[in-house]
Amino acid sequence: MDVYEAVKTRRAVRGFTDQAVEREVIERVLSAAARSPSGSNIQPWNIYVVTGEPLAQLKKVATERVAAGDPWDEREYVMYPPQLKSPYGERRAAFGRDRYTALGVARDDWEARARAAIGNWECFGAPVALFCYIDRDLGMPQWSDLGMYLQTVMLLLRAEGLHSCPQMAWSQVRKSVDAVTQPPPELMLFCGMSIGYEDPSVDFVDNGRASLDDTVTFIEG
Ligand SMILES: Cc1cc2nc3c(=O)[nH]c(=O)nc-3n(C[C@H](O)[C@H](O)[C@H](O)COP(=O)(O)O)c2cc1C
Repeated sequence: MDVYEAVKTRRAVRGFTDQAVEREVIERVLSAAARSPSGSNIQPWNIYVVTGEPLAQLKKVATERVAAGDPWDEREYVMYPPQLKSPYGERRAAFGRDRYTALGVARDDWEARARAAIGNWECFGAPVALFCYIDRDLGMPQWSDLGMYLQTVMLLLRAEGLHSCPQMAWSQVRKSVDAVTQPPPELMLFCGMSIGYEDPSVDFVDNGRASLDDTVTFIEG
């Protein structure tokens, strides 16, 4: 698959079939993604791939916690600043509108929104979950390395006919994830990623993007 095609067809898919994904495919993707760049090549990503019974158990524990109104695990990083200033606040609001429109959920139907959010901890039906950890001692540039790595993984998954959804939502139940992955104490969870084959019957709204004029400045001679 052409790189442009991979970029254009990647999106956060929130409906997967239960078709299994062979470990060999995931290994091929992660071996290639290891070529991602990182400052001084320190490769700060620590990845756990969870499938089968351990994933079924994790989905069960996490969804039961959320359904019971269990409080989130205390945060290890701030997902968004409390006041998202312009233009980020507007973009986030537009994303929420699009997402709930696709689901046919009214803006103020908080119960339906909560039900939809639970899909996160079911991996939207996906049979594979990837969890990305970082050493607590590392800083902002290394966090950006993680982003490059994760995007590389997502593009390579497209080349394999697979889809993905990156999910910070998993950090809200990070202790339940840790109970399965059992990372060394210096590692903290950044995010999860659901991986599998798309269920084409699940509706979605394609998220737009800000224009080049809004995000890029050319300084030309
Ligand atoms: C680091 C990161 C965390 C995300 N966390 C979640 C999440 O917890 N749940 C979810 O449904 N989508 C999550 N997303 C997906 C974004 O909402 C999505 O990428 C964005 O709206 C753009 O849409 P697109 O990826 O479909 O083009 C996350 C994306 C990133 C990059």
